[in-house]
Amino acid sequence: MDLRPIGVFDSGLGGITVLKEIINLVPNENIIYFGDTARFPYGPRELSQVKNFALKIARFLVSKNVKMIVIACNTSTAAALSDIKQEIKVPVIGVIEPGARAAVNATESKRVGVIATKGTVESMAYDNAIKKIDKSIDVFSNPAPLLVDYVEKGIFEGRSLEKTICEYLNPLFTKSIDVLLLGCTHFPLIENNIKNCCSAQVKVISSAVETAKDVEKTLKDKDILNNSDNESDRKFYTTADENTFFKSGKIFLGEKIKDVSHIDIDM
Ligand code: DGL
Repeated sequence: MDLRPIGVFDSGLGGITVLKEIINLVPNENIIYFGDTARFPYGPRELSQVKNFALKIARFLVSKNVKMIVIACNTSTAAALSDIKQEIKVPVIGVIEPGARAAVNATESKRVGVIATKGTVESMAYDNAIKKIDKSIDVFSNPAPLLVDYVEKGIFEGRSLEKTICEYLNPLFTKSIDVLLLGCTHFPLIENNIKNCCSAQVKVISSAVETAKDVEKTLKDKDILNNSDNESDRKFYTTADENTFFKSGKIFLGEKIKDVSHIDIDM
């Protein structure tokens, strides 16, 4: 039994889509969530800069005595997973490998489409992770930065969102994909709108559920599950305004967020 919290982070609120699945699978776990909202978005930044941000956040989480770190952000996973793993002593889980695995399991035509941030697409992290599992799969990616902004602003519907989604997806449909991988943790919040633009042949999948399964398995394998009956403690940090985080976070998580603190960017 290990009561220490799990640390989860993202550039903003998107990682809460992963957190939600973790809570579904291991509801007893205490959580510290860090949203670097002041420096959002990470997607257009240089990966070296994102790596520095992510390393700093990981060190902050370690200072809070976490027993595991979940990088609930594709861009940060692409930029910093191996460096964080190298430096940090607790288990570290990213979202790209689980997402790649889910896509490989789902595709029949062996043609997978990915929408993600510019940083994630340019890193080729999904191409590499998918091909590592099955070389014969073709991966077609398109950066979809505006969708990240819609979601972070809390815009989940409307003509302009739908039009933007279809503009990003149409080039992938010309490649006859049968799986569309949501390579950004913000996107599950507009999954229905994305599905509306896809034909019935295209399966839309995200890495959130698969990542949560990895979290559960690692907790079990390392014998660090929290089996306590106490109500779990969920603490949130944001580098921007607490009130905005509080309001949007509630929508993202689907339940009230009780404990949000502002933290200085320089921690
Ligand atoms: N949610 C993040 C991801 O999965 C990044 C969004 C952003 O900051 O651009 O890549």
